This record gives sequence, C-alpha cells and structure tokens, in this order.
Amino acid sequence: MSVLIECRGLTREYRKGGQVIRPLDGLDLAVPRGDFLALMGPSGSGKTTLLNLIAGIDSPTRGELIVDGADIGTLSRRRLAAWRARHVGYVFQLYNLVPVLTAYENVELPLLLHPLTRRQKHDRVVTALERVGIADRRGHFPSQLSGGQEQRVAIARAIVTDPAVIVADEPTGDLDKASARAVMELLRELNRESGKTVIMVTHDPKTTEYASRTLHLEEGRLAGGSAVGGVMA
Ligand SMILES: Nc1ncnc2c1ncn2[C@@H]1O[C@H](COP(=O)(O)OP(=O)(O)OP(=O)(O)O)[C@@H](O)[C@H]1O
Ligand SMILES: [Mg+2]
Repeated sequence: MSVLIECRGLTREYRKGGQVIRPLDGLDLAVPRGDFLALMGPSGSGKTTLLNLIAGIDSPTRGELIVDGADIGTLSRRRLAAWRARHVGYVFQLYNLVPVLTAYENVELPLLLHPLTRRQKHDRVVTALERVGIADRRGHFPSQLSGGQEQRVAIARAIVTDPAVIVADEPTGDLDKASARAVMELLRELNRESGKTVIMVTHDPKTTEYASRTLHLEEGRLAGGSAVGGVMA
C-alpha cells in the first residue's frame, strides 16, 4: 500500500516571551492510503497540533511533511490554503458550523474555492448531505439540529470536496452514545467504502474499535518510537 502521509522529524514550536513550547518534537509517522488511524494521548501531548499540520491549517517549524504527494511543510500560506481546500476534510469536536447558514449553505462553503458551476456545486452538496443521511434537513440552521445531526452536517462539509484525507478531532467528544455510534459508523463507511484515509484523535477507547490501528502520542512524539504502516519500527 502506498504511503499517503509521511512525517519525518516533524517539529512545531511556539515562542511565548522567552519560553519555547514544543507540542511536536521530532515526530516520525507514516500513514498508508486507506488507513483508519486512531490517535490517543494525554491532554497537551500534541494531538490537535499534529492534525492541524496534516490538514494544512498550520505549518511545521522543522521536519518533513508529505501529504498526498505534496510537501506541504514548505508551501506558502496562500498555496497551502488552496491545497487544503482540495485535499483534506476536517471534522471538529464542536462541529464548527456557521450559525447563520443553513445545513446546505454550511456544506457548500468549501466549494466556494472551487471552480465549479452552480449546478455542479448543487449536485455535490446534495450528494454529501445524502451520504450522511441528512438531506431532509438541508434548510435547517445549526440551532435547529441535534448535536448528532450537526456532526453529520460537519462530516458532509468535510467530504463535499472529495478529499483523500479526513482528519477528525474528538468527533464524538460532545455526543451521546447513540449519536457517537452513528458518527463512528459513518466514518468507517467513508473509510471502507469510499476509500478515505481517516485520522481521528480520541479520548474514548470505544471509538478506537472502528479504527484499523491506534497510536499513542506522548510529549510530542509517538510512544514507543516511530510507527510505519502499523508496525513499530
Ligand atoms: N498556538 C499556540 N501557541 C502556543 N502554544 C500552543 C499553541 N497551540 C498549542 N499550544 C500548546 O501545545 C501543547 C499541545 O497542544 P495540543 O492542542 O496539540 O494538545 P492535545 O494533545 O490536542 O490536547 P487535548 O487532548 O487537551 O486536546 C499544549 O501545551 C498547548 O498549550
Ligand atoms: Mg486537542
């Protein structure tokens, strides 16, 4: 299986006053195409920092980061934004839907950066909403939806551009058991049936049962050294 994401010596530092905070500290990780990777680790171990780098929301201080063939660690902010719009879908714990937009309009947002006709955009949005089973709520605002429904809309927004990678940061962290199970089943379908590579941060061991493997972060590195394709190297 080909490697979709490769991190070598990945380091992210923040400078505050005279102090250096290093949430990622020389991390090595290879994620094969089609993987469903669960990431666990204590609060502050660098999980969200890693997802933000993989998603092109933030850039590394040092180290190599190849995602879907692009060396995204070296892209300018503008190029990175364009790259991100095509290659990665992000699912957040608290959904991050825009409250004044309907479900339909929220899902349409990432397509504004894409050169598509109105008709093509419409078809993509409807397909994504149908994929997550929420097309009948397309005219509802986030405040009119349950948490589980909001997260489905957020997943539709993450897949509407047909990205190779979905990153999810505690996607069930704010959901009741039944909604959490539904969201996990949906992520598993997107992985198995639609071939999406999924990287999910979680604090809930139950959700790791849906993943093909689980890795643990500790102080900005993988516990036990580097992991390549599920094998500890
Ligand atoms: N923009 C920033 N500026 C300064 N420090 C930051 C910034 N972003 C993250 N950090 C620090 O980096 C460390 C790791 O943060 P991160 O959000 O990656 O942790 P996490 O593993 O996702 O934790 P949690 O499980 O609580 O979500 C923390 O100490 C945090 O305060
Ligand atoms: Mg976090």
